Amino acid sequence: MPSEPALEARFHALTERLAEWQALWRPLPFQHRGVPWGERAPGLAEALLALSDDEAERLQARPFDASPLAAWLPVDVLAEAVDLPDLVSGEEALPASWGEGIGARKWRQIQAFAGCVASDDDEALLEWCAGKGHLSRTLARRDGRPVTGLEWQASLCEAGQVLAERQGQPVTLYRQDVLAEGAGDWLAPGRRVAALHACGDLHARLLELAAERGAAVTLAPCCYHRTEAVDYRALSNRGRALMAEHGLTLSREDLAMAVQETVTAPQGVRRHRRRANAWRLGFDRLQREVRGRDEYLPVPSCAYGRLPGDFAGFCRWAAENKGVTLPEEVDWVPFETAGWRRQAEVERLELVRHLFRRPLEVWLVLDRAWRLVEAGYRVRLGTFCERELTPRNLLLETR
Ligand SMILES: C[S@@+](CC[C@H](N)C(=O)[O-])C[C@H]1O[C@@H](n2cnc3c(N)ncnc32)[C@H](O)[C@@H]1O
Repeated sequence: MPSEPALEARFHALTERLAEWQALWRPLPFQHRGVPWGERAPGLAEALLALSDDEAERLQARPFDASPLAAWLPVDVLAEAVDLPDLVSGEEALPASWGEGIGARKWRQIQAFAGCVASDDDEALLEWCAGKGHLSRTLARRDGRPVTGLEWQASLCEAGQVLAERQGQPVTLYRQDVLAEGAGDWLAPGRRVAALHACGDLHARLLELAAERGAAVTLAPCCYHRTEAVDYRALSNRGRALMAEHGLTLSREDLAMAVQETVTAPQGVRRHRRRANAWRLGFDRLQREVRGRDEYLPVPSCAYGRLPGDFAGFCRWAAENKGVTLPEEVDWVPFETAGWRRQAEVERLELVRHLFRRPLEVWLVLDRAWRLVEAGYRVRLGTFCERELTPRNLLLETR
């Protein structure tokens, strides 16, 4: 298990690489007509654009394996820095009937996460942002101990309470805004707070309160970009010092990169995304011409199932949405063709961002871990399940 000095070495190595290469991973190729990093890394864009569809797809799924990007970018160093131990203790699956009312994937995530919460502890358990308290119920049932869950939405508390009572589990869900004053009163030494996929400010608040109050934490963070602050301020002093030393800056938009992954999306969803992206890029060409301005115009994304039936329909929708007046007659074919061509290029240029995605996520979790180390905790960091089950599979635990 990585000790604090090993975590420190990773934190340092990742800060250095993220800072050094920020001009390459930060720009969104989607918003550019050419190579978004200009003259930097000569030859890299050409090598990416020459990749076959299969190779591009393989690198999306496994950015560190046999990567041709290694001739330009520090692939091996990044791979080593993100290679964290598997924390699953190899526990047997819980009875399937316990997962009643929980989606199949979520149930597997909950079992894996629960496997990282020690069952023989005498710590009182609290679940943070509990939803319907699926995790609370699972832990209560497995350990035969009461669990308290905190959740903001009253309807989820009510539905979760009904489920707990129906299954005879000692779970109490309280309606609590964890960002509100007084949320810290739930935390104290001798209590462990479990938080599965608590978003940005919600888990940051947990860490602050735990550091202040002395509760233990088992956290799988998620959606780092769901935060009030537009510019990221590291949670730990060490993180702030490293950012300043290496000139690393992170915006809220950059944080979103850490969670943009399609690894678990089914084929149908991926096909839909590809078409939507090609059409958006085709529209981008069209709007640049119609407006006479060679600049990207962000168009909102269309929910799955809401995409108009053809390219012309999409452009009319997008134009109306953005207040762009299209000419009466448009020859759609060249724009759609250009959109698909650019889409294939963007997918390949995006491989640079793919390479830095996990390093950024691990860096963010290290910053969270370091906040707790600075508060005097001993911290373990690793994965609680395979990426295919959830790409948000990092787990931070105080001992
Ligand atoms: C991503 S869900 C995770 C739910 C559950 N832990 C799970 O893994 O299924 C985040 C939960 O946080 C809740 N939430 C959002 N803002 C909150 C707040 N300010 N205080 C407490 N809970 C909040 C949401 O209602 C939602 O149930």
